[in-house]
Amino acid sequence: MNYRFSLIGYPINHSLSPWIHGQFLMKADLQGNYTINEIEPSKYVENKIKTVMESGIHGFNVTVPYKQKIIPFLDEVDPLADKMGAVNTVANKNGTWIGYNTDGIGYVRSLESKYPELLLDKSQHVLLIGAGGAARGIYSALDHTGFTRIDITNRTKESANEIARLGSPQTTTKTLSLQEAENKLGDYGVIIQTTSVGMKPGVGQSIIKMDNLKSTSIVSDIIYQPLKTKFLMDAKASGASIHLGHTMLLYQAQYAFEIWTGKQVPIDNMDNELQLILEGR
Ligand code: ATR
Repeated sequence: MNYRFSLIGYPINHSLSPWIHGQFLMKADLQGNYTINEIEPSKYVENKIKTVMESGIHGFNVTVPYKQKIIPFLDEVDPLADKMGAVNTVANKNGTWIGYNTDGIGYVRSLESKYPELLLDKSQHVLLIGAGGAARGIYSALDHTGFTRIDITNRTKESANEIARLGSPQTTTKTLSLQEAENKLGDYGVIIQTTSVGMKPGVGQSIIKMDNLKSTSIVSDIIYQPLKTKFLMDAKASGASIHLGHTMLLYQAQYAFEIWTGKQVPIDNMDNELQLILEGR
């Protein structure tokens, strides 16, 4: 078998996915390649997506701006991706096109692999900061993997309320203003930052002040450029444990590769290797 995978999106020329999946193919001892199919938004987008799907490909990833637009092209959508309303991984299973979303589950895997104690205590009080597409995926995945206390804070509270409605009956979710979250930060064992605040070039910015953070908390930021955001540096200065955003890239890809090939490839040293690649940019 010679696997053929691809990525569609725009702009994606700097994507790290070809490197990540190239490593996975080698580690799994499989033949194949992973190519970039940059599709510029235009009136020919549908034709271009169809061309990719008709090219004999085994699976492909989907990124901005096509995570919703891809859905009508598919035969089936996995229930979690359906709940998230977005697909980032498509598998060709004997001619049936199935859509998945590995972003949220990938994120939770990355967090639990760094902090395995979280696997044992799903009643940790989690605070999710932000209510965009990334937050939606992570909220659904936290809920799906059994976390039961997940609050959301966002500049626009209505977006946080919309995500809160996705929770299953056993999950309790309060929505908070950013100011309320700052005041109550000490209530949370896990704090996850999903907004774009603090991303290059806005590196000096942080979405909230960390004055009330407790030192036993785990603080995570999904931004990976820079690798250590101001948000994470403030958390570290308060004695908290931190979790870097680039690991989400590795684990969402690991899960996609597993869907395509049935093989779960260990991440091992790829975490450090990816850090070096990102530091060189
Ligand atoms: P993504 O798909 O990457 O999650 P998104 O859907 O554009 O991106 O969501 C961006 C998130 O960052 C939102 O939670 C947004 O808050 P609003 O819902 O209030 O827009 C948040 N965000 C972006 N810039 C922000 C800023 N300057 N201050 C506070 N929140 C910000």
